[in-house]
Amino acid sequence: MKKIRAAVFASGAGSNFQAIMEKNDLLCEVALLVCDKPGASVLEKAEKFGVPTFVFDSEEYASKSDYEKDLVRKLQQSDISWIFLAGYMRIVGPTLLRAYKNRIINIHPSMLPEFPGKDAIGQAFKAGVSDTGVTVHFIDEGIDTGPIIAQEPVEVFKDDTVETLKERIQLVEHRLYPIVINRLMK
Ligand code: GAR
Repeated sequence: MKKIRAAVFASGAGSNFQAIMEKNDLLCEVALLVCDKPGASVLEKAEKFGVPTFVFDSEEYASKSDYEKDLVRKLQQSDISWIFLAGYMRIVGPTLLRAYKNRIINIHPSMLPEFPGKDAIGQAFKAGVSDTGVTVHFIDEGIDTGPIIAQEPVEVFKDDTVETLKERIQLVEHRLYPIVINRLMK
């Protein structure tokens, strides 16, 4: 049977992209990597895994709806039916949301609704909480909002630094995201 074709959207290092690619029994095919940061290291990872890329620079477009129209065109040409945001540091606008209604999920390094937005790990660390975690959710037009699909707590240890906390949170992300993806593909 033909596998569902999905796109991963990422802006940075791509460790979650890598974790998805390394899942042996992934129930979909990652057929496209979309990146808004020319030169981001996730692009080297895509090359290593032989995943085609679509790279865009938002500054070359007049508006979000303009670049999202281009994205939708590319996604449709590539027969993509699901989108997994993995460190895509942009708010998705109505053009893309409407084209992929209930088919866009995101991973975020906190127990949402706590610590949305950028640097969730730094925010949690500064707040001095004893627990934080990871959330996978459907997106809507807000910043890290939308129906929650799965969450897993991560304890903050007394001797943690932001770096050690980030390492443990990302280990959870790398395990959780591919599992949740498979659950949704069934
Ligand atoms: C991940 O920790 C992801 O949860 C976070 O960006 C990181 C990307 O790392 N996303 C957000 O903060 C979304 N608001 P990666 O590029 O190594 O996968």
